[in-house]
Amino acid sequence: MLNEKNVALGKVRSSIRELFEYGKKRKEEIGEENVFDFSLGNPSVPAPPEVAEALKDIIDNTDPVALHGYTSAQGDYSVRKSVADYFNARFSTALGADCIYMTCGAAASLTITLNAILNDGDEVITFAPYFPEYKVFTEHAGGKLIALPAVAGTFKPDIKALESALNPRVKAVLINSPNNPSGVVYGEEDIRAVAGVLGKYRKEHGSSVYLISDEPYRELVFDKSVKVPCIMNYYDDSVVLYSYSKSLSLPGERIGYIAVGDRVREREELYAGIMGAGRALGFVCAPALFQQLVKRIHGVTSDISVYKRNRDVLLKALESYGYTVVRPDGAFYMFVKSCEPSAVAFCERAKKYELLLVAGDDFGAEGYVRISYCVSPATIERSLPAFRALIESYK
Ligand SMILES: Cc1ncc(COP(=O)(O)O)c(C=O)c1O
Repeated sequence: MLNEKNVALGKVRSSIRELFEYGKKRKEEIGEENVFDFSLGNPSVPAPPEVAEALKDIIDNTDPVALHGYTSAQGDYSVRKSVADYFNARFSTALGADCIYMTCGAAASLTITLNAILNDGDEVITFAPYFPEYKVFTEHAGGKLIALPAVAGTFKPDIKALESALNPRVKAVLINSPNNPSGVVYGEEDIRAVAGVLGKYRKEHGSSVYLISDEPYRELVFDKSVKVPCIMNYYDDSVVLYSYSKSLSLPGERIGYIAVGDRVREREELYAGIMGAGRALGFVCAPALFQQLVKRIHGVTSDISVYKRNRDVLLKALESYGYTVVRPDGAFYMFVKSCEPSAVAFCERAKKYELLLVAGDDFGAEGYVRISYCVSPATIERSLPAFRALIESYK
């Protein structure tokens, strides 16, 4: 008898993947340039040249046995030290190398952290819309995901709802900013408010709820006035999950880290739990070559001006055609109100105009669609008449 839960999970076809496959087929039929595939969140700009240069240099100048060997389970010490130093310089924290655990990207950071924290039946609160894998990862760690609707229209955390959802089973609040799928960035006042509620809960009940921030899009913000606050500066029991998948356009290389706040209560216990979960999940260590790369290119990103330009062109055009768009300040996603009650039906109609959009239902928010605008600027330009025709078909 196989594990039924996992077999069922393996059989569920992701609607995003299905749409992507449909797009591939359609491109063969009518030509690539005539299909506007906004389904996937795969970076469309190449990794910056610094990546190839650093990799060449590392390969040319490092003993291959050492370079490609296992590292410590938590990651090479000098790499973790360099991540902690960079993080401290940027966010005024006091992390040591022993606060950092190198991972195979944000997905691994999430599964390891959730497995370290959760016992059967524990709850994790998040705000909809949310990355669908949160449910899969939480449930696999024995927990239950409680998705609170975000504030309608702004898609910021609903603080009152958070306050009422807290109970002794809640072990963590999981946030994601810049957000997939809305592109919304939680500002300082949002983080302060979330931290305020959790701080008050800790004072009144003695027990802590971890604040976990999933930040693969941290570097993808487009305006100088928009900042992604570091949660550790607002709440002691904070854990930041980071990935280089999007910032350096390296999603296939699987590299990221967990940063445990230096003021976390029982920090050493939590770190031990992370070590244990990483071991039990069989991660062994993060890719050794890419750990060495990380050490060399702190602060470097791929050319995000392409995403900014795409955001600006698309936002301006969609608003001028009459769409209601939640202003995206970061990531490479835009959340647009469906022109009919069912976003699924709206996405079906969009296909007639060769627009491949994802219904918000997949992210726990009905009535909206996600546009992944990590595509070429030419695709954005060519798609505009289709977006106009789509909304006009409802008039
Ligand atoms: C919100 C969010 N978290 C985590 C991940 C996983 O990223 P990674 O490639 O680093 O595992 C993604 C990927 O799209 C994401 O959108």
